Amino acid sequence: MAKLIGKNKIYCAVFISGRGSNLKSIFRYSKKKNSKIILKLVVSNKLSAPGVKFAKKNKIITQIVNYENTIKAEKEILSLLKQNDIKLICLAGFLKILSKNFIKNFNGKIINIHPSLLPKYKGLNTHERVIKNKESYSGCTVHFVNKRLDSGKIILQQKVKLYKLDTPKKLEKRILKIENKIYPKAINQILSKI
Ligand code: GAR
Repeated sequence: MAKLIGKNKIYCAVFISGRGSNLKSIFRYSKKKNSKIILKLVVSNKLSAPGVKFAKKNKIITQIVNYENTIKAEKEILSLLKQNDIKLICLAGFLKILSKNFIKNFNGKIINIHPSLLPKYKGLNTHERVIKNKESYSGCTVHFVNKRLDSGKIILQQKVKLYKLDTPKKLEKRILKIENKIYPKAINQILSKI
């Protein structure tokens, strides 16, 4: 993990594709006196993502990246990260898979949040699968990103109980609330160790 810069904070980027509730919770954390990050950059592959509106409103440098050509897109992002001295990337509902090469460039400095108790239920449609399998618990996980999908070292995880009448929507809503709490905690945790 990167060294902390002046005022004991590092520059952080959040990558999004949609709603941006985790972006908002990271932003709120960044504004706390004792936070360890300055949220400097938001990258989105979608102009229409509600999170983009939030980022712009809050005067965070915001870049929409055209992903028609992944190699070009990643090149553009890497250059932005360098320009802005970004030391930590937080994926927050970013629906594009980063290439092995990109991950190698930022090894150990990319984290992600996933709406399940990893290593269970990697990939998409987690809530549907959890309910279909009649699990008693689900939850969410913040983990480091490595080249295998949803498989990097776990930083923080929290369980959420399932109820008989749960639907994917209800479960998603309950888990999202917990996600918004544990993402800043996980950031704080990894940056406290350096
Ligand atoms: C969150 O539930 C996050 O865990 C999920 O996308 C949602 C983004 O919500 N990410 C994944 O499924 C990654 N595999 P947000 O835009 O409100 O933060």
